[in-house]
Amino acid sequence: MSHKRRVIIGVTGASGGIYAIRTIRAFLIHGFEVHLVVSDYGNFVLKDECGIDLRNDEPMEIFRKMFGYDVESGAIVRYNFRDLTARISSGSFEVEGMVIVPCSVKTLSGIANGISSNLIERSADVCLKENRTLVLVLRETPLNLIHIQNMLMLAHAGAKILPASPAFYQKPKTFEDLADFIAGKVLSLFKVEHNLYKKWGEEE
Ligand SMILES: Cc1cc2nc3c(=O)[nH]c(=O)nc-3n(C[C@H](O)[C@H](O)[C@H](O)COP(=O)(O)O)c2cc1C
Repeated sequence: MSHKRRVIIGVTGASGGIYAIRTIRAFLIHGFEVHLVVSDYGNFVLKDECGIDLRNDEPMEIFRKMFGYDVESGAIVRYNFRDLTARISSGSFEVEGMVIVPCSVKTLSGIANGISSNLIERSADVCLKENRTLVLVLRETPLNLIHIQNMLMLAHAGAKILPASPAFYQKPKTFEDLADFIAGKVLSLFKVEHNLYKKWGEEE
């Protein structure tokens, strides 16, 4: 039995691979065991935008190379996107919740309609039925009525819709600052104290 806090992170094929990287980094630095699933298009976007291959290379090595040994406070367990026999597809697996970052409108729809046809949709469905935190960092614009109705359905079902919509009052200077605003908002939903961005009203 692990003593680390556990979170599932699903990465799907919406633009914004940097949101995934900064969120995984933040959970690792805060000592979480990250249970990671990357969709086909999630991996495509990560390779295209960020030059990393989380499916084929060793994920902890990727994070250590990028961010140093701080990430080793946490751990990564990686799963196959199609493996519905994985531990995280069962409610008996003890985990605090799940974040899908970035979340495509296709995966939003799969969850809103209870499809569970891959490990990301299934794990999200399990989080909802077990009353665990489910955070969807949705990235699409503009939104059509189908997207909005799917968001409404999931908000009713207890999911947190956290659009990839960083603020600017913390005076971001880099893409990493922008992505850390979103990573920080996710961590706050898991009641993790962090310094990923300067809170409004805080001194320099
Ligand atoms: C380069 C690229 C960027 C994309 N960006 C988005 C996006 O921002 N939002 C979105 O919902 N879908 C986006 N898509 C489409 C999804 O990748 C596609 O719908 C895919 O089927 C999603 O599957 P998944 O949710 O299983 O990863 C993008 C696709 C590509 C190739």
